[in-house]
Amino acid sequence: MKYILSASILSADFSNLEASIRNCEQAGVDWIHIDVMDGHFVPNLTMGPFIVETCKRITNLPLDCHLIIEKPENLVRSFIDAGADSLTIHPENNPNILRTLGFINELGCKAGVAINPGTSHLVLQPLLPFVDLVLVMTVNPGFSGQSFMPEMITKVNETARMIKGQNKEIRLQVDGGINASTIIRARQAGADAFVSGSAIFDHPDGINAAVFALKKGLG
Ligand code: DX5
Ligand code: ZN
Repeated sequence: MKYILSASILSADFSNLEASIRNCEQAGVDWIHIDVMDGHFVPNLTMGPFIVETCKRITNLPLDCHLIIEKPENLVRSFIDAGADSLTIHPENNPNILRTLGFINELGCKAGVAINPGTSHLVLQPLLPFVDLVLVMTVNPGFSGQSFMPEMITKVNETARMIKGQNKEIRLQVDGGINASTIIRARQAGADAFVSGSAIFDHPDGINAAVFALKKGLG
């Protein structure tokens, strides 16, 4: 499978979101990653369906929506109506995850499951038949600009092995602290989709140079 680079707009310049996204497109970013936070699941409050709808008007790149929220089932339909191409939800504090994944599938959207650093990859096993993407968080979610947790490499490795045992194409994504060097370690561990925020939008030489450096790490 081709490697996917997803730019997390949490780090983008919101005073000119359109220019930031267009710059990502031109630089060769594959997906746009939208971090939705509710101030409950994580101590930060970010974007809602309105931002997804705005991004949809700016770009044709797939919108990779990461719902870091409680009760995602209440918002699934709104995000899909707004133009989300995939919705990734968390199993932590979510007894209804399988039902919600089924609901996302029924609505014709790609479904993903994301696990926090403190969550074992073993929770993924019963969920794999119902997802197109697994996201192993490499920081505690909430903010851009945190350092990659090297302790997560083993989890990426073991998750890659679990995915291989399935009769299905499932992407293995990493998110948090991905830069030109950690992207190589994550790829070697078996990841094939990479979210990057600050390493793209805060690069001193601009978005083009940042994406070039990240893609170089993907070979
Ligand atoms: C973390 C978010 C990430 C974050 C990545 O809570 O899920 O997507 O924006 O940002 P960087 O790449 O700066 O760690
Ligand atoms: Zn994210």
